[in-house]
Amino acid sequence: MTLDTTAINQQMTHFDDHEAIWLFGYGSLIWKADFSFLERRPAHIIGWERRFWQGSHDHRGTPQAPGRVATLTESPGAVCHGMAYRIAQDVLGPLDVREKNGYLRVVTPLHFDDADQPESREGLVYLASEDNAAFLGPAPDTAIARQIAESHGPSGPNRDYLLNLAQALREMGHDDPHIFALERELLALPPLPA
Ligand code: SIN
Repeated sequence: MTLDTTAINQQMTHFDDHEAIWLFGYGSLIWKADFSFLERRPAHIIGWERRFWQGSHDHRGTPQAPGRVATLTESPGAVCHGMAYRIAQDVLGPLDVREKNGYLRVVTPLHFDDADQPESREGLVYLASEDNAAFLGPAPDTAIARQIAESHGPSGPNRDYLLNLAQALREMGHDDPHIFALERELLALPPLPA
């Protein structure tokens, strides 16, 4: 699949007749909401696990030295917690550009965590599957943490992405063993040579 998914995403018509759309964020979209939204609510999706398996050529690394950022991998019954945003249609254009490095819009049921009664909606998630050109896949935690420690891109150091995500999940009261293991590995690494 092409490295820039903007054009593919803009062909999606699923929500065209909706005035507003629920977007589920599980990575930087949790802690970096630099887009306008009408409402924000903690939520989860089922059947997916968050993994630092996606390469980043445009935000937290470069094409020559990609960083590592979050995507989702299918896992029956797993619960992935994140943040849902109700956004207007015109916010999708800039989001497609932000998520252009391999992520495709996918329709998903999402379930709110702040409701007294179970409450769900159909929403959208940006997902980087293993057939995208920037996909890196699994590696030992130490190797992932080292790659994150050494990577830097136009949006800043890769380590900030991981540390901000871990902090946001902690503040939301969620345990994510993969994320917290990577955070521990990263913080245990010796400082990079100046
Ligand atoms: C997301 O946060 O939902 C997608 C991945 C990212 O932008 O970090």
